[in-house]
Amino acid sequence: MRVVVLGSGGREFALAKKLSESPAVEKILVIPGNVGLLQINKVLLQAISIVDIAKIVQATIFFGADLVIVGPETPLALGVVDELERCGILILGPTKAASQLESSKAFAKNFMKKNKIPTAPFAIFQEEAAAHQYLNFCDMPEGVVVKADGLAGGKGVFVCKNAEEAHQAVYDLMANRKCAVSAEKIIIEKRLYGREISAFALCDGENFIPFGYATDYKQLCDGGQGPNTGGMGSMASHDWPSKKLRQRISDLVFAPTVEGMRKAQIPFKGILFAGLMIEEGDGVGEDTAELKVIEFNVRFGDPECQALMALYAGDILIPLVAAASGSLKFMDDGAVQFHHNQVAIHVVMASAGYPDIYDGGLLLNQKILISEMSAAEQAAVAFSGVSEQDGHLINSSGRVLGVTGVGANCQAAREIAYSLIDKIKFKGAHWRGDIGLI
Ligand code: AMP
Ligand code: GLY
Repeated sequence: MRVVVLGSGGREFALAKKLSESPAVEKILVIPGNVGLLQINKVLLQAISIVDIAKIVQATIFFGADLVIVGPETPLALGVVDELERCGILILGPTKAASQLESSKAFAKNFMKKNKIPTAPFAIFQEEAAAHQYLNFCDMPEGVVVKADGLAGGKGVFVCKNAEEAHQAVYDLMANRKCAVSAEKIIIEKRLYGREISAFALCDGENFIPFGYATDYKQLCDGGQGPNTGGMGSMASHDWPSKKLRQRISDLVFAPTVEGMRKAQIPFKGILFAGLMIEEGDGVGEDTAELKVIEFNVRFGDPECQALMALYAGDILIPLVAAASGSLKFMDDGAVQFHHNQVAIHVVMASAGYPDIYDGGLLLNQKILISEMSAAEQAAVAFSGVSEQDGHLINSSGRVLGVTGVGANCQAAREIAYSLIDKIKFKGAHWRGDIGLI
């Protein structure tokens, strides 16, 4: 098969690498990809913008693609699946309408309410004054979260400690022209506390298969301190979450979501990513803790995907094709093969100044050489923000690369990842030291 992967980051690197290990995969075209991907066997790159759907369709047809896998949300929200399906090309991802689970938080919240999927209580506003008025009267001592309705690249969510911060967030999103995000519609919801988990399911419109669980370390610094980032690392483990909690996630979230979308006649095909809050605490363990959906995404997470792919033991092409072609019901439970006794740790190395000076994929003004690495070391590295200058890789955006360690337990996985990080040096590089510890 000839496979197209859309996207350019570490997530797409991990997907392309896993796909390259399938004996049934002949060639992989990554659009637009990054130059680091060229070290993967079978990979070709084509520099087309991820928002240029017409050119993506053209290149996919010209390549003779048998399957298309979509990394980021933007082309999904723009309807790349609708366009490619119209051309008869097999693609794993939701249509523009089904992508609303991620591209409109108001759609997702109303959908969850209608289908009794647990989520934080919320209200939706299109007028700034009404939102302020609501804040004056709502009684939420635990705090509120104010969110822009549409896609905002992680910049549209404000977790507020008090009313003052919430009023400011409403103003910023709806009226402040200096704010990076401007929203015509916002959601105000109750702030939740607990442990976050990213849960994934492979869906074919009618059926689903759970497809892994991971932790995303979103804050810049150790201990969860510092500003929010695109993700500084991830961890996936054979023994977390517990079997009971996995079952509850399937029953309370995945099953009613797939069924609700089918009933609404916008069947969900692709990777369903539920960002969940497990409300542990006060002697309540994960087996019995309440769980709530914080958000839906309609694709793999980055950097969760890097840890998940490291734990995937089988031929990844098989479940991906089964989902894309609506055949999950013909797959038995054993067809999804994660290692049963391993833990994967993925640590991201970022450029100096990240996340502040990183701006939508623009080149940083410092182009810094990454020191030479051996082939074995490079094999554990997923490149994301790199380009080439005079035959050397240079960092070209905020998150430059990630290193994955796999071991029998967390400590073993950490030792592998961090000993490699010690060898990869580039000026200004920074990373978290506590991935897998908390
Ligand atoms: P979202 O884009 O909706 O996932 O929000 C981004 C991040 O904000 C989440 O991963 C959480 O860390 C945080 N967040 C969003 N909603 C809530 C909430 N209701 N309570 C607590 N934290 C939240
Ligand atoms: N890691 C979170 C995301 O990809 O949205």
